[in-house]
Amino acid sequence: MDEEKKRIAEANLAQIAQEVSVCTRCMLHHSRKYAVPGEGPVDADIMFIGEGPGFHENEQGRPFVGAAGKYLEELLAIINMKREQVFICNVVKCRPPNNRDPQPDELAACSDYLERQIQVINPKVIVTLGRYSMARFLPNAKISDVHGQSFRIKGRLVVPMFHPAAALHQPSLKTSIEHDFSNLPELIAMADHSAIVPEEKPAENDSKPTQLSLF
Ligand code: URA
Ligand code: SF4
Repeated sequence: MDEEKKRIAEANLAQIAQEVSVCTRCMLHHSRKYAVPGEGPVDADIMFIGEGPGFHENEQGRPFVGAAGKYLEELLAIINMKREQVFICNVVKCRPPNNRDPQPDELAACSDYLERQIQVINPKVIVTLGRYSMARFLPNAKISDVHGQSFRIKGRLVVPMFHPAAALHQPSLKTSIEHDFSNLPELIAMADHSAIVPEEKPAENDSKPTQLSLF
């Protein structure tokens, strides 16, 4: 990204974050302390999308700063990356009370912010963490079936993974997520390769993603 483009993209991201910080589109704004728009470099290759802010995120206005965040940093270390190198955000930007699941109307209300972030950052790979962010791209998939596989959805590479908070408490999920992470560099390299292929025709049915690989 050249400097001028980067400056404009950063301003766009900041604009989205500003809108999120004062948003009242859904009920969740009533109980938030700070909205959590997400953070990371505008030219990040990888975008991680979690579920929603928890207790610590709500206190600080930053994503993945509690126990799940610490584990996410450990997972990034497996591929020699630091959190400052990736973009980290959530499908809902305000904390659901008592960490309950985000509701369909809240996901719908918040969806446009995430869509704009994806457009601006244009990541090579989107990694969804947990069921709710997976469902945004793969509405009918079961995470236990598809985790770690890559899908091309509207021209974008999407890799669903278990949520780090879930993995922290379940050894079998921990093994899975660590294995899935170790495959990420290869997937990013594949994304690089596919970037030089002439533009794909728009999919006839966006809800039918193409599965690219099975690990
Ligand atoms: N869990 C999430 O899904 N998102 C966060 O930001 C923190 C914990
Ligand atoms: Fe707005 Fe999203 Fe927060 Fe709801 S969760 S108030 S839509 S920023």
